[in-house]
Amino acid sequence: MPLQVLDHPLASHLLASLRDERTPPQEFRQLARRLTTLLVLQATYGIRTRIDRVTTPLCETEARVLDQGLAVVPVLRAGLGMLEPIVDLFPDVAVGYIGLERHEETAVARSYYSKVPQSVEGRFTLCVDPMLATGGSAAQAISLIKAHGASQITMVSIVSAPEGVEKLQQAHPDVAIVTAALDEKLNDRHYIVPGLGDFGDRLYGTP
Ligand code: PRP
Ligand code: URA
Repeated sequence: MPLQVLDHPLASHLLASLRDERTPPQEFRQLARRLTTLLVLQATYGIRTRIDRVTTPLCETEARVLDQGLAVVPVLRAGLGMLEPIVDLFPDVAVGYIGLERHEETAVARSYYSKVPQSVEGRFTLCVDPMLATGGSAAQAISLIKAHGASQITMVSIVSAPEGVEKLQQAHPDVAIVTAALDEKLNDRHYIVPGLGDFGDRLYGTP
Protein backbone atom coordinates (compact mmCIF):
# COMPACT_ATOMS: atom_id res chain seq x y z
CA MET A 1 0.00 0.00 0.00
CA PRO A 2 1.25 3.52 -0.68
CA LEU A 3 2.93 5.83 1.78
CA GLN A 4 1.25 9.24 1.87
CA VAL A 5 3.23 12.17 3.21
CA LEU A 6 0.92 15.04 4.14
CA ASP A 7 1.68 18.02 1.94
CA HIS A 8 -0.09 21.05 3.39
CA PRO A 9 1.35 24.41 4.46
CA LEU A 10 -0.40 24.26 7.84
CA ALA A 11 0.89 20.73 8.48
CA SER A 12 4.47 21.88 7.76
CA HIS A 13 4.01 24.89 10.03
CA LEU A 14 2.69 22.80 12.94
CA LEU A 15 5.43 20.24 12.48
CA ALA A 16 8.14 22.92 12.58
CA SER A 17 6.94 23.97 16.06
CA LEU A 18 6.69 20.34 17.22
CA ARG A 19 10.31 19.80 16.16
CA ASP A 20 11.51 22.92 17.99
CA GLU A 21 13.24 21.81 21.20
CA ARG A 22 12.00 24.95 23.01
CA THR A 23 8.31 24.04 22.62
CA PRO A 24 6.90 23.32 26.12
CA PRO A 25 4.58 20.32 26.78
CA GLN A 26 1.32 22.32 26.92
CA GLU A 27 1.99 23.81 23.47
CA PHE A 28 3.38 20.51 22.18
CA ARG A 29 0.12 18.74 23.12
CA GLN A 30 -1.98 21.34 21.33
CA LEU A 31 0.20 21.21 18.20
CA ALA A 32 -0.02 17.41 18.17
CA ARG A 33 -3.82 17.56 18.34
CA ARG A 34 -4.05 20.11 15.52
CA LEU A 35 -1.69 18.20 13.26
CA THR A 36 -3.52 14.94 13.96
CA THR A 37 -6.75 16.55 12.75
CA LEU A 38 -5.11 17.18 9.37
CA LEU A 39 -3.61 13.69 9.25
CA VAL A 40 -6.91 12.05 10.05
CA LEU A 41 -8.75 13.88 7.28
CA GLN A 42 -6.19 12.46 4.86
CA ALA A 43 -6.15 9.00 6.44
CA THR A 44 -9.94 8.55 6.33
CA TYR A 45 -10.38 9.57 2.71
CA GLY A 46 -11.25 5.97 1.78
CA ILE A 47 -13.90 5.36 4.43
CA ARG A 48 -17.08 3.97 2.85
CA THR A 49 -19.92 6.39 2.11
CA ARG A 50 -23.39 6.09 0.61
CA ILE A 51 -25.86 8.44 -0.97
CA ASP A 52 -28.77 9.43 1.27
CA ARG A 53 -31.58 11.94 0.83
CA VAL A 54 -32.01 14.99 3.03
CA THR A 55 -34.60 17.73 3.01
CA THR A 56 -33.21 21.24 3.29
CA PRO A 57 -35.55 24.17 4.08
CA LEU A 58 -35.84 24.53 0.29
CA CYS A 59 -36.09 21.07 -1.24
CA GLU A 60 -35.04 17.43 -1.05
CA THR A 61 -31.54 16.62 -2.26
CA GLU A 62 -28.97 13.87 -2.37
CA ALA A 63 -26.26 13.88 0.29
CA ARG A 64 -23.21 11.69 0.83
CA VAL A 65 -23.02 10.25 4.33
CA LEU A 66 -20.65 7.90 6.14
CA ASP A 67 -21.55 4.24 5.74
CA GLN A 68 -18.75 2.64 7.75
CA GLY A 69 -17.71 2.86 11.37
CA LEU A 70 -14.27 4.03 12.40
CA ALA A 71 -11.99 2.37 14.93
CA VAL A 72 -8.82 3.86 16.37
CA VAL A 73 -6.07 2.16 18.33
CA PRO A 74 -3.49 4.49 19.88
CA VAL A 75 -0.18 2.93 20.86
CA LEU A 76 0.52 3.96 24.47
CA ARG A 77 1.78 6.19 25.64
CA ALA A 78 2.64 8.73 22.93
CA GLY A 79 -0.31 7.68 20.70
CA LEU A 80 -2.69 9.02 23.35
CA GLY A 81 -1.70 12.52 22.24
CA MET A 82 -3.42 11.83 18.91
CA LEU A 83 -6.68 10.37 20.24
CA GLU A 84 -8.74 13.39 21.24
CA PRO A 85 -9.11 15.04 17.79
CA ILE A 86 -10.17 11.70 16.30
CA VAL A 87 -12.91 11.25 18.90
CA ASP A 88 -14.01 14.83 18.23
CA LEU A 89 -14.26 14.23 14.47
CA PHE A 90 -15.84 10.74 14.75
CA PRO A 91 -17.82 10.65 18.03
CA ASP A 92 -18.98 7.04 17.53
CA VAL A 93 -15.46 5.72 16.98
CA ALA A 94 -14.55 2.39 18.64
CA VAL A 95 -11.35 2.82 20.66
CA GLY A 96 -8.79 0.15 21.53
CA TYR A 97 -5.48 0.52 23.35
CA ILE A 98 -2.12 -1.16 22.91
CA GLY A 99 0.74 -0.52 25.34
CA LEU A 100 4.25 -0.98 23.91
CA GLU A 101 7.56 0.26 25.24
CA ARG A 102 10.88 0.18 23.40
CA HIS A 103 13.91 -1.16 25.20
CA GLU A 104 16.31 1.76 25.64
CA GLU A 105 19.26 -0.03 24.04
CA THR A 106 17.86 -2.64 21.66
CA ALA A 107 14.74 -0.63 20.64
CA VAL A 108 12.78 -3.89 20.71
CA ALA A 109 9.22 -3.10 21.80
CA ARG A 110 7.74 -4.94 24.81
CA SER A 111 3.99 -5.32 25.00
CA TYR A 112 2.52 -4.47 28.44
CA TYR A 113 -1.18 -3.89 27.71
CA SER A 114 -3.75 -4.63 25.04
CA LYS A 115 -7.48 -4.04 24.85
CA VAL A 116 -8.85 -4.01 21.32
CA PRO A 117 -12.62 -4.31 20.76
CA GLN A 118 -13.90 -7.11 18.48
CA SER A 119 -15.93 -4.38 16.80
CA VAL A 120 -12.82 -3.39 14.80
CA GLU A 121 -13.96 -6.09 12.39
CA GLY A 122 -15.57 -4.34 9.43
CA ARG A 123 -14.54 -0.90 10.62
CA PHE A 124 -12.10 1.43 8.93
CA THR A 125 -9.27 1.17 11.45
CA LEU A 126 -6.53 3.66 12.31
CA CYS A 127 -3.50 2.67 14.36
CA VAL A 128 -2.02 5.92 15.69
CA ASP A 129 1.51 6.38 16.99
CA PRO A 130 3.37 9.64 16.38
CA MET A 131 6.80 8.08 15.80
CA LEU A 132 7.50 5.35 13.24
CA ALA A 133 11.20 4.75 13.92
CA THR A 134 12.45 1.16 13.48
CA GLY A 135 8.85 0.14 12.77
CA GLY A 136 8.95 -2.58 15.42
CA SER A 137 6.18 -1.08 17.56
CA ALA A 138 3.88 -0.40 14.61
CA ALA A 139 4.38 -3.88 13.13
CA GLN A 140 3.55 -5.49 16.51
CA ALA A 141 0.54 -3.24 17.08
CA ILE A 142 -0.89 -4.02 13.65
CA SER A 143 -0.45 -7.77 14.13
CA LEU A 144 -2.49 -7.45 17.34
CA ILE A 145 -5.18 -5.37 15.64
CA LYS A 146 -5.43 -7.89 12.79
CA ALA A 147 -5.77 -10.70 15.35
CA HIS A 148 -8.99 -8.97 16.46
CA GLY A 149 -10.43 -9.14 12.94
CA ALA A 150 -9.58 -5.75 11.42
CA SER A 151 -8.75 -5.92 7.73
CA GLN A 152 -8.76 -2.31 6.53
CA ILE A 153 -6.00 -0.66 8.53
CA THR A 154 -4.10 2.61 8.13
CA MET A 155 -1.05 3.51 10.20
CA VAL A 156 -1.02 7.21 11.09
CA SER A 157 2.21 8.74 12.33
CA ILE A 158 3.58 12.25 12.69
CA VAL A 159 7.26 11.58 11.89
CA SER A 160 8.53 8.48 10.08
CA ALA A 161 11.98 7.12 9.30
CA PRO A 162 12.66 5.32 6.02
CA GLU A 163 13.71 2.22 8.01
CA GLY A 164 10.36 2.08 9.81
CA VAL A 165 8.35 2.56 6.65
CA GLU A 166 10.24 -0.24 4.94
CA LYS A 167 9.84 -2.61 7.90
CA LEU A 168 6.11 -1.93 8.18
CA GLN A 169 5.53 -2.29 4.44
CA GLN A 170 7.34 -5.63 4.49
CA ALA A 171 5.52 -6.94 7.56
CA HIS A 172 2.08 -5.62 6.52
CA PRO A 173 1.96 -4.80 2.80
CA ASP A 174 -1.84 -4.34 2.99
CA VAL A 175 -1.58 -1.45 5.50
CA ALA A 176 -1.56 2.15 4.24
CA ILE A 177 0.74 4.65 5.96
CA VAL A 178 -0.12 8.33 6.37
CA THR A 179 2.52 10.55 7.93
CA ALA A 180 3.33 14.24 8.24
CA ALA A 181 7.06 13.76 7.53
CA LEU A 182 9.45 11.23 6.11
CA ASP A 183 12.74 12.08 7.80
CA GLU A 184 16.30 11.26 6.86
CA LYS A 185 17.39 8.30 9.01
CA LEU A 186 17.71 6.73 12.46
CA ASN A 187 20.71 7.50 14.64
CA ASP A 188 22.70 4.84 16.51
CA ARG A 189 20.21 5.03 19.43
CA HIS A 190 17.31 4.33 17.02
CA TYR A 191 15.98 7.89 17.24
CA ILE A 192 14.63 9.62 14.14
CA VAL A 193 16.91 12.32 12.67
CA PRO A 194 16.14 15.20 12.51
CA GLY A 195 12.96 14.02 14.26
CA LEU A 196 11.70 15.79 17.35
CA GLY A 197 13.20 13.73 20.16
CA ASP A 198 11.19 11.44 22.42
CA PHE A 199 7.56 12.24 21.65
CA GLY A 200 6.17 10.73 24.87
CA ASP A 201 8.62 12.66 27.04
CA ARG A 202 7.87 15.93 25.24
CA LEU A 203 4.11 15.33 25.43
CA TYR A 204 4.10 14.58 29.14
CA GLY A 205 7.15 16.57 30.29
CA THR A 206 9.01 13.50 31.54
CA PRO A 207 12.82 13.70 31.57
C1 PRP B 1 7.94 5.46 20.98
C2 PRP B 1 6.87 5.81 19.97
C3 PRP B 1 6.59 4.49 19.32
C4 PRP B 1 7.95 3.84 19.30
C5 PRP B 1 8.52 3.97 17.92
O1 PRP B 1 7.39 4.90 22.09
O2 PRP B 1 5.74 6.39 20.54
O3 PRP B 1 5.67 3.70 20.02
O4 PRP B 1 8.76 4.57 20.24
O5 PRP B 1 9.71 3.29 17.82
P1 PRP B 1 9.91 2.02 16.89
O6 PRP B 1 9.33 2.35 15.57
O7 PRP B 1 11.40 1.87 16.86
O8 PRP B 1 9.25 0.85 17.55
P2 PRP B 1 8.23 4.48 23.40
O9 PRP B 1 8.62 3.05 23.32
O10 PRP B 1 9.33 5.46 23.61
O11 PRP B 1 7.16 4.56 24.55
P3 PRP B 1 6.27 5.78 25.11
O12 PRP B 1 5.27 6.13 24.04
O13 PRP B 1 5.64 5.18 26.30
O14 PRP B 1 7.18 6.93 25.43
N1 URA C 1 10.40 7.22 19.69
C1 URA C 1 10.40 8.57 19.82
O1 URA C 1 9.64 9.12 20.63
N2 URA C 1 11.25 9.28 19.07
C2 URA C 1 12.07 8.73 18.17
O2 URA C 1 12.83 9.45 17.49
C3 URA C 1 12.07 7.32 18.05
C4 URA C 1 11.22 6.60 18.82
